[in-house]
Amino acid sequence: MLDHEKIIILDFGGQYAHLIASRIRRVNVLAEIYNPDEISLEILQDPKVKGIILSGGPQSVFDDGSPKCDDVIFELEKPVLGICYGHQYLNHSLGGEVKQGEVHEFGMAELGFDLGCPLFLGIEERRRKREESDFKSHSPMTVWMSHGDEVVKLAKGFESCGSTSDCANAAVWNKDRNLYGIQFHPEVTHSEYGAQILGNFVNICEVQADWTMEAFLEEEKDILKEKIGDKNVLLFVSGGVDSTVAFTLLSEVLGTGRVRGLFIDTGLLREGEVEFVEKSIKDIGAHLTILNESERFLKNLEGVYEPEKKREIIGNSFIDVQRDYFSTHDLHDEWILGQGTIYPDTIETGGTKNSATIKTHHNRVPEIQKMIDEGKVVEPLAQLYKDEVRQLGELLGLPEHLVWRHPFPGPGLGVRILCSSVEMYCNASQIEQEKHVILPIRSVGVQGDYRTYRHPAIIDFNVLGNQSGFDIAKWEYEATDLINRNSEVNRALVLLGSNLNNNVGSQNFLFSSVSVQKCYITSERIRRLQVVDHIVTKTLEEMNLYESVWQFPVVLVPILFNDQGRESIILRPIDSVDAMSARVGELPFLFFEKVVTEILKDEEVSAVFLDVTSKPPGTIEWE
Ligand code: XMP
Repeated sequence: MLDHEKIIILDFGGQYAHLIASRIRRVNVLAEIYNPDEISLEILQDPKVKGIILSGGPQSVFDDGSPKCDDVIFELEKPVLGICYGHQYLNHSLGGEVKQGEVHEFGMAELGFDLGCPLFLGIEERRRKREESDFKSHSPMTVWMSHGDEVVKLAKGFESCGSTSDCANAAVWNKDRNLYGIQFHPEVTHSEYGAQILGNFVNICEVQADWTMEAFLEEEKDILKEKIGDKNVLLFVSGGVDSTVAFTLLSEVLGTGRVRGLFIDTGLLREGEVEFVEKSIKDIGAHLTILNESERFLKNLEGVYEPEKKREIIGNSFIDVQRDYFSTHDLHDEWILGQGTIYPDTIETGGTKNSATIKTHHNRVPEIQKMIDEGKVVEPLAQLYKDEVRQLGELLGLPEHLVWRHPFPGPGLGVRILCSSVEMYCNASQIEQEKHVILPIRSVGVQGDYRTYRHPAIIDFNVLGNQSGFDIAKWEYEATDLINRNSEVNRALVLLGSNLNNNVGSQNFLFSSVSVQKCYITSERIRRLQVVDHIVTKTLEEMNLYESVWQFPVVLVPILFNDQGRESIILRPIDSVDAMSARVGELPFLFFEKVVTEILKDEEVSAVFLDVTSKPPGTIEWE
């Protein structure tokens, strides 16, 4: 628990608990997340805790085992804000009534609101400035909803201060007790004045705004010195922003002599990555040892196709390398392990108790968890979000090209090479070719806070043949619509181009066959992906587009069309702030034209697709 005045968030299992915290931190107020049933009374009563937010969550207050917290929070005389499930929980706990709503609201809604409630302070003024002559006093604002249940009777002392056409109690407050509940999600950027509403709650809490990266840096240095004592730190660097910033911070605190960087060449890296990392670390003036372990990783991955199994094996292989290193170098007692884990890295593993497992993060596999529990791991960035890590990197003087590198997942290309244990062949008559074609492979996604493992569907063909029809926003909308209506599908693709010679992509395009290859992770497949990935990065840089996307995974899938080529490529440009939610990165037609032409020079590539799925329902990586 960091020693600042703060707001705490009780995480009832919603994916957006982190967004709430990160929005609050952006106004320089520390926000920390806790499991509602594990937080101690001592923390709740701590005078530094100036306000409490109850997050959303996937369950209904009526479900068996639905998350609860100690209702003492309502007696502490601290402001409380319930959001979505938190709003329902607050009203239900204090004697109100929650019911399943007649209409379930997902997405945008128009909220009429009461100017007298301090949550809505300043919104009229901001709107007046924004809209100038079109300004209509007190018109509704757009908010983002995601709920089935609703509060139908208010708890004693509460009054409604906001409603939508389908939800009468979309915002409520108890003036005397400083308790607030809102059905919508202010933390989501699509809620028009969401940041202002959260900022107003921060003001209601009268909490000090002293959470800055400068302050964090000074405090963290002391914490690290105390935790590490006279030991040395061994840190596995990946070349990504997080581990590079962690490494630099530790080197600054302990001196470069006491921090040893190890870089594991897993064989699952991008082209030129080893050389890049070697040079970057050398430029910081620190020590780096490179361990070429690609054979070990590849061997361990032989015959493995299941996404979680791949992750587990890659995670365990990392640990084996670490263990071997520790035993051959006899470093046991005087060394501890450093990791560049950041704050959200735990949520998608079910690391906060009420969230469902979406995937296992390799910094949190059981063996590492055991070392963490034994106090043998130091994670200097574990309290920070990605944007904060970047701020810290800048503060530590790291060059821009390191700080603003696109994120790259720890398991590397291993989560971008889809495998299959079976061969499949579908001929034309077996392929449903109406508006979309569902492909016989599956990838990981996230819907309603749960992991999904479903099929991608092609929703448009040969879009590079038609510049005027090239409309990423439109496809993204169609993708959401299709996925909401079709429980078999969690991603949507458009066909950018192919090596098929029977005029694939004409208006009446029909595949004559789709087949899936039986294949696993091999050096040949890794090489193929590295080449394509390099084409994409190089073209982004050449066209000055690198910083216009947040990340750009390129994925290899074992699927081919009309018996031509060997497999296909998916391009996944991402627009995001924190990876918790993402939209499809909008890049120009010319970029795709250039990249696809280059990729298709490899005749073994059957087709190239663009993934037009937002997160949710897709995840960024395919796994
Ligand atoms: P998803 O696929 O969950 O990805 O939407 C969110 C972000 O996390 C990155 N990612 C990882 N990073 N170790 C990492 O260091 C991992 O195991 C891992 N898995 C996903 C992903 O690239 C994206 O930026």
